[in-house]
Amino acid sequence: MDFRKRFGPWALVTGASSGIGAAFARELAAHGLDVVVTARRADRLDQLASELRAAHGVRVEVVALDLERPDFIEPLVRACADKDVGLVVSNAGFGLKGEHHTLDGARLTGMLNVNCHAPMLLARAFAPRLIARGRGGLLLTGSIEGFIGFPWSAAYAATKAFVMTLGEALWAELRSHGVDVLVLAPGATDTDAPTLQGIDKHQLAGLMPPAEVARQALARLGGPPLFVPGWLNRAMVRFLTTVPRRMGVLAAGKGMRGAIRRSARAT
Ligand SMILES: NC(=O)c1ccc[n+]([C@@H]2O[C@H](COP(=O)([O-])OP(=O)(O)OC[C@H]3O[C@@H](n4cnc5c(N)ncnc54)[C@H](OP(=O)(O)O)[C@@H]3O)[C@@H](O)[C@H]2O)c1
Repeated sequence: MDFRKRFGPWALVTGASSGIGAAFARELAAHGLDVVVTARRADRLDQLASELRAAHGVRVEVVALDLERPDFIEPLVRACADKDVGLVVSNAGFGLKGEHHTLDGARLTGMLNVNCHAPMLLARAFAPRLIARGRGGLLLTGSIEGFIGFPWSAAYAATKAFVMTLGEALWAELRSHGVDVLVLAPGATDTDAPTLQGIDKHQLAGLMPPAEVARQALARLGGPPLFVPGWLNRAMVRFLTTVPRRMGVLAAGKGMRGAIRRSARAT
């Protein structure tokens, strides 16, 4: 079955205004899928929509919304009500770095909403439609930080651990319904995200282009529940999760703190 038949005609991508989400939207449109793109920055989404319509002749609908809002799901479901959505890419997310007790409480709550509450409710809202179709997919963007406690990124890493176990469990629940679930766990990717967290991306090893991350992830739909792009990221995860847990957490923290300090010196 070709990609559009299996996952089309419509896909929904959250966090599509930049980075990995925009790359997902581009890749899906190149496969001939119509795309509902969502994020807060409507101007960026409008630009992307024009680009995709012109380049691939697909339909693109822009839904500007804030996933921090507890009631975000209703407008999204309404916007998709008349569309046969076969693929949901829950990709929006952001991180906060630094000592946990120094971080702003409201920002932490916002991060929890975008990174955990949103994918959980998206999966709940769209799974019945995918099940009824008997085919389709759900792709959740996690992070390599979800594999183990990451000091100086404690809460962000915890949100990504949530995404990982949520997605793995849904992989098992939905497979008998013909629905493919994949957790994408990227490492350092060349998007706005590192800079927004105060990390100079030149300090990061194995930085991958977002287009490559999105392309590889979509090709993994239908396989095992979890995918880590990039051999260096896979080696890092293997190391952190095979040494004794205590050592893994300390090594993760050393790497994170080093990147934060080097970034501060570089600016
Ligand atoms: N880049 C990396 O190194 C890396 C590594 C591992 C995992 N990840 C994960 O990859 C995913 C995509 O991040 P990225 O690297 O592509 O970063 P990015 O370029 O900053 O993209 C983040 C996306 O999430 C959206 N978003 C953030 N807050 C939102 C909110 N309150 N409501 C709605 N949308 C919101 C942003 O759109 P608006 O600002 O327009 O709302 C944007 O489209 C995230 O889940 C991130 O945790 C990234």
